[in-house]
Amino acid sequence: MDNNFEKMDRGLARLGGHAVPMTESAEGAPKTSDTDVLKNAACDLLGYANEFHVYHWNAKNNFEHELMGEVYDLMRDTSDRLAERYLSISDVGSFVPEGNFGTDRKEWAPGKETILSRMETILKGMDDAFTEHPDLAKFGGIGNIFSDFDEKMGTIIYKYKRFEG
Ligand SMILES: [Fe+2]
Repeated sequence: MDNNFEKMDRGLARLGGHAVPMTESAEGAPKTSDTDVLKNAACDLLGYANEFHVYHWNAKNNFEHELMGEVYDLMRDTSDRLAERYLSISDVGSFVPEGNFGTDRKEWAPGKETILSRMETILKGMDDAFTEHPDLAKFGGIGNIFSDFDEKMGTIIYKYKRFEG
């Protein structure tokens, strides 16, 4: 069952900035550019939003149904904010999406523990992406996007853990 999540982990590695086209940093070590981190995170979150949208449809009770709705809203909104900052900061001119947008999922109605660990892994991936690229904080507003996601996702995880069901 957990094999289904291997692709997710690769996605998160990318979110952390390890599997995108490399550029040489000033020190000579391969490094993902800061703006690529924004683009990758935007694409990955769009995929996660689609995935959690299906969990919303397949929810086993109304609480879970509503909560999964909050999750996909948060992911889609965060993706949108990141993509628009990416476009305003970089000089690429247009957004060319990469990724599978959640369509590679094989398990569409996982249990609570699996969904919880998925949410925690995605949250950690987002936190790591920002932590590993401290220069992103130079660009106005980006720190807020990541900290808003951290706070809201943390609250959702807390609510889901507390729910008996
Ligand atoms: Fe709905």
